[in-house]
Formats: sequence, C-alpha cells, structure tokens
Amino acid sequence: MPYRDPTPVRILIYASRSNLIGPVFGQMESIRAVVARRNIALGLGTALLHQSGWFVQWVEGPAEAVQQVIDRVAADPRHGAMHVVHDAVAPRQLHDSWSMAVVQADELPDDFGRRVAALLHDRERGLHHAPAAVWRLLSTPLGHAGAQAHDDPNLFCRTLVCAADFDESFDLVRWLGGRHRVDVVRRRFAGVDTPDVATDYVDFADAGLVHRVIAMARNGIRIGLTRAFLADYGCIVLVRGGDAKRDAQVLEMLCAACDGLLHRPVLLGVGADAASHEPLRRMARGRAMHYLNVDVDDRRDSAQLWRAIAPVVREFAAPVPMRAIACAR
Ligand SMILES: Cc1cc2nc3c(=O)[nH]c(=O)nc-3n(C[C@H](O)[C@H](O)[C@H](O)COP(=O)(O)O)c2cc1C
Repeated sequence: MPYRDPTPVRILIYASRSNLIGPVFGQMESIRAVVARRNIALGLGTALLHQSGWFVQWVEGPAEAVQQVIDRVAADPRHGAMHVVHDAVAPRQLHDSWSMAVVQADELPDDFGRRVAALLHDRERGLHHAPAAVWRLLSTPLGHAGAQAHDDPNLFCRTLVCAADFDESFDLVRWLGGRHRVDVVRRRFAGVDTPDVATDYVDFADAGLVHRVIAMARNGIRIGLTRAFLADYGCIVLVRGGDAKRDAQVLEMLCAACDGLLHRPVLLGVGADAASHEPLRRMARGRAMHYLNVDVDDRRDSAQLWRAIAPVVREFAAPVPMRAIACAR
C-alpha cells in the first residue's frame, strides 16, 4: 500500500456491540489470522478495537471493497447492532492492512454507548469529525474533568514518549499518574506482523495545560494505528539508551513513521551528554524533522525526566483542532 498516497479513498468507521465471551485478545488474533491478508488483497487499511463490550472498526480503501467487507462483517455473529459513526472520502490514513487494539477499561458498555450516541447525534447535525478524532472520542476521551468542560474536548497537549532501551516511558506515565492521582489507561496494540505491544497513557493538568502523555513500546511505532495519530502530537520524546546505534535505529523508525505528515511533531532526544546528540540531529534534519535535546543525569528518575522535558513539551504543545476536515459522503 503506497505510504502517504494522496488519492482519496472511502473511510468508514462503525461501532458495534461485541458478542465475544472470554479473553478477547486471542479471539481478535483469530480474526486477524483470517482477514489481514485478505484485506491487503482488497487494498484495504483496517483497525479494529475492542473496549467495554464494543467493537470499533476503521476501514478505508476503494469504495466497493469497503462496502464488500462491511456487508460481510455485518453478518458475523460475533457482534451486532452496527452503527456507522463516520463515512467520508479523504486521503488514506492507516497505511497498513491491519491494526488491532484492546483497551482495558472498567467502564460499562452503556457508558461507551453514550459516546457512540453522541457521535451519531453529531453526524445527524452535519458535524463531521476527522477519523482519528472519531476514534479518540470513542476509545480515549479526555479523562481530565476540567478539560472536559472545554469547548472542544480534543484540544489538549499530546506527547508520545518512547525509550530506546528500557521502560522509562512507562515508568514516567506511572509516576505522572501517581503524582496527579489519576488512573493510567492500559492498552495493547498489534499490527499485521508485529507482536502485541503495550501502550499506556495518563491525562492530567500541569501549569495550566491539560496533558496526555503516552508511553509507546518501540515496536508500536510501526503499527498503522499509531502512525494515524502522529500528526496530533506536539512532541515525540526519545529517551535515549546506552547504545548510540540503537538510539539511531529508534530515531529512524520515528522519522519513517512521520514521513509525509503535514504537521510533524518535534523530536526531543533525552540523553546524558549534549555533544552526543549531534549525529541524531543530522539524521533528523535529513528526514525534514526538527530535533531538540535535553540532558538528565538519571533518565530512570521520572521526576527528573519530567522536569527536563516539560518545558519543551509545553512550548510545542500544538493541539490540533480535530473538527471536520474530511468531506462527508
Ligand atoms: C468485528 C469483526 C471485524 C472483522 N473485520 C474483518 C475485515 O476487516 N475483513 C474481513 O475480511 N473479515 C473481517 N471479519 C471476519 C468476517 O466477518 C468473516 O468471518 C471472515 O471474513 C470470513 O468470511 P467467510 O467465512 O465468508 O470467508 C471481521 C469479523 C468481526 C467480528
């Protein structure tokens, strides 16, 4: 599938009630085993989410192929009560035949259903959200109470943190959750060939700004669904490890994932020694990415890490207005 192909395709997102019983991830893997290759053959990009007793599926590609799959899937007894929450024509955004995600949330199906109903209501009123915003409004609405009162609940500062060696990104999210006394949301993502990876996030307010900080495992950067959201980040933080070659590999993965985006997040390298950032800065420049750096004595100390990155994250917090850019069908 050509990456960042500007040719418009049909993008359809539906939400349906899941009839799955028992552990979900394995059952979604069974769906993937059957359909990922089939979707490639049809030129389709797909992302499937399971959360709070609901499925959400994003399907994009040639209009007839999208219809063919939706008709087939609608008859599948593993779910029911399918509601189309988005149907538009726009350039491809998934660039991968299959991504899947499971969000471990303890909310009730009715609470999720209220968000589906709100989106259907928006559609009826002619208010069309971009596909990534539809997905986010359903799956990961802003958890911060103060910010929910904001005019546009999509306006907040999103930062992706990825660590080259260890789990400093996940430690940081856990620490932020503890510091602000808010729950960490845990998710599992997988792609066509990538093994499943964890990605946790936390929402909180700090110095007058509402933040979402997302910890992403290295392999998660390759997953189509991750890429579809990269344009919404102000900053991507790379917590460097002890091996310059490995740092460069992760930076390359991040640059490749941002390739072709209209809005590219700023890359922020966290290291221990200012001079060692130069090769990474050159590499990023070669890929038309802006690389900044900060240094900390101990990157495993989350308080120190946040103190170092927070000013940069705040400066580049460029929340993107998510309302309606796609042309509705
Ligand atoms: C939530 C959900 C999403 C699905 N997504 C797809 C899909 O994207 N593409 C696809 O071919 N089949 C998908 N399937 C599986 C189809 O419903 C069907 O089982 C499969 O394509 C095999 O169809 P067949 O028995 O007619 O060959 C999905 C099933 C479920 C429950």
